[in-house]
Amino acid sequence: MAIPVSLLPLLAATALVALGFSGVGEARVLLTLDDFGAVGDGIANDTQAFLDAWNAACASTEQAVLAVPAGKTYQIWPLHLAGPCRKKLKLLIAGTIAAPASPDEWAGRDPTKWLYIYGVDDLSISGGGTIDGRGSEWWARSCKRKKTKPCNTRAPPKAVHFEECRGVSVQGVTLQNGPQFHLVFTRCSDVKANFLRVAAPGDSPNTDGIHLNDTSHVEIKDNLIMTGDDCVSMVGNCSDVRVKDISCGPGHGISIGSLGKNRTTDRVQNVKVDTCLLTNTTNGVRIKSWQGGMGFAYNLRFESIVMKNVSNPIIIDQYYCDQATPCANQTQAVRVRKVEFVDIRGTSATKQAVKFACSDAVPCRELELKNVNLTMEGGGAASGFCYMAYGKTAGTVVPPSCLAKRAPRMLRDTTPDRLDS
Ligand SMILES: *[C@@H]1O[C@H](CO)[C@@H](O)[C@H](O)[C@H]1NC(C)=O
Ligand SMILES: *[C@@H]1O[C@H](CO)[C@@H](O)[C@H](O)[C@H]1NC(C)=O
Ligand SMILES: *[C@@H]1O[C@H](CO)[C@@H](O)[C@H](O)[C@H]1NC(C)=O
Ligand SMILES: *[C@@H]1O[C@H](CO)[C@@H](O)[C@H](O)[C@H]1NC(C)=O
Ligand SMILES: *[C@@H]1O[C@H](CO)[C@@H](O)[C@H](O)[C@H]1NC(C)=O
Ligand SMILES: *[C@@H]1O[C@H](CO)[C@@H](O)[C@H](O)[C@H]1NC(C)=O
Ligand SMILES: *[C@@H]1O[C@H](CO)[C@@H](O)[C@H](O)[C@H]1NC(C)=O
Ligand SMILES: *[C@@H]1O[C@H](CO)[C@@H](O)[C@H](O)[C@H]1NC(C)=O
Repeated sequence: MAIPVSLLPLLAATALVALGFSGVGEARVLLTLDDFGAVGDGIANDTQAFLDAWNAACASTEQAVLAVPAGKTYQIWPLHLAGPCRKKLKLLIAGTIAAPASPDEWAGRDPTKWLYIYGVDDLSISGGGTIDGRGSEWWARSCKRKKTKPCNTRAPPKAVHFEECRGVSVQGVTLQNGPQFHLVFTRCSDVKANFLRVAAPGDSPNTDGIHLNDTSHVEIKDNLIMTGDDCVSMVGNCSDVRVKDISCGPGHGISIGSLGKNRTTDRVQNVKVDTCLLTNTTNGVRIKSWQGGMGFAYNLRFESIVMKNVSNPIIIDQYYCDQATPCANQTQAVRVRKVEFVDIRGTSATKQAVKFACSDAVPCRELELKNVNLTMEGGGAASGFCYMAYGKTAGTVVPPSCLAKRAPRMLRDTTPDRLDS
C-alpha cells in the first residue's frame, strides 16, 4: 500500500506525540517506520521511509525513539545516516532490518558499506530484533571461498559501521549473516556492545563479530558470537577496552591486531578480556602484528578463560602475514609489552597450545603466565613455543612455561610511547 506523499508530513506530525509524563523525566517522541510509509514485507524498498524517519527523529527537539515494528522485515538498501542529531536518540529494533541479498544491488555504490552511521553521538540501539546482512551471495563470490575466476577480491560491506561517534550503545539485538564484519566502531569513544547475538556460518569469510579501530573506552560484554572470523577484534589505537562474559565459537577467537600492517604505527593499550568461553575456534586469545610496523601493544590482561578444542589457545605472533601481501623480513616491529594470561584452562585442538613468536629486534617483554592449564583435546600433553619471549610465571603452568626470565640488557629500559603523545 502506497501512502500519498502529501500525507506523510501529517502522519509524521501525528506520530510526534509527546510521551513524557508530566513532571517525570524528559519528554520523548515515538516514531515508527510505518508512519513514514514503510511496508515491512521483506520485498518492498523501505529505504526512503527509513531515511525520512531517521531525519525526523534526528531533527526532533525532544528525545526520540524510532521503532522498527516487530513481526515485519524491512528491506533497506545501503544507507548513510549522518549526525549530529539534536537530542539523544534510540533506535528500537523489534522487527528485522534486512539487506538486499544480491551484491549487484551495490553497483555504483561504495561496496564496503551497508548501514553506515557517521558523526552520531548519544545513540542507542536495542529492542530484541534482528539486523540481517544476508551475506551468503557475497561469501560465495569471495576469492577466499570461490577458487575459480571471476571472484571478488574487494572487501564486501560491513553490516553496521559507526565512524566518529561518542556515547553509542548497541545492546540486545541479533546481528546475522554480515557480508563482512558485523559491527564496527572507527574513531569512536564511550561505546557499548552488550547482550548481542552475532551469528554467521563458521566458513563465511571475514565475518568478524565486533571490530574496533582507533576507538577508546569500550565495553563489550554478555555476547554470544558465532562467526567465520574473529569474534572480537581490535586494531590500531584502541585503548581502555573491556571485553567480558563472551561465548565465542565457531570463529577465530579474540584478537588484538593485526597491528603495523604496511609499516604503519599502531598503538593498543589497557585492554582487559575476562570470563570468556571459546569453543572450536582457530585461536583463543591472540596478538598479531606485521613485521616492519611501529607502535605497541601494552598492558593487556586475559583472565578467566576456558578453551574447548581451540587450535591456538594462547598466541602472540609478531610475524603475521596473509597470502594477499608479500612479507619481507624486516627488523622493525610493533612492541609487545606487559601482557598477562591468568586462569586460562581447557583443551587445545593442536599440540602447541601456547605460542610466543616474537621479533629479534623487538622481543616481547613482561609477559606473565599465571595458573594456566591447557591439555590436548582428547587427552595428552600440550606444548609451548617461545622465541624472543621474556617474562615470568606464577602458580601452576601447564604446558610448562618456555618464557625466558630476563630480557638482554640492551633491550630493557625502553618505556612505551604514550597514546596521547
Ligand atoms: C531503494 O530506495 C533507495 C532510496 O530511495 C534507492 O537509492 C535505491 O536505488 C532503491 N532500490 C531499488 C532497487 O530501486
Ligand atoms: C582503520 O580506520 C582507518 C580510517 O580511520 C582506515 O583507513 C583503516 O583502513 C582502518 N583499518 C582497519 C584495519 O580496518
Ligand atoms: C594511530 O595513530 C598514529 C599516530 O597518530 C597514526 O599514524 C595511525 O594512522 C593511527 N592508526 C589508526 C588505525 O588509526
Ligand atoms: C603501503 O604504504 C605505501 C606508502 O606509505 C603506499 O604507497 C602503499 O599504497 C601502501 N600499500 C598498501 C597495500 O596499503
Ligand atoms: C565443535 O566441532 C565439532 C566438529 O565439527 C562438532 O561436532 C561440535 O558439535 C562442535 N562443538 C560445539 C560446541 O559447537
Ligand atoms: C576439534 O576441532 C577440530 C578442527 O578444528 C575438529 O576437526 C574436531 O572435530 C574437533 N573436535 C571436537 C571434539 O569438537
Ligand atoms: C626471513 O628470515 C627467515 C629466517 O632467517 C628465512 O628463513 C626466510 O627465508 C626469510 N624470508 C625472506 C622473505 O627473506
Ligand atoms: C589440568 O587439567 C587436566 C584436565 O582437566 C587435569 O586432569 C589436571 O589435573 C590439571 N592439572 C593441574 C595442574 O591443575
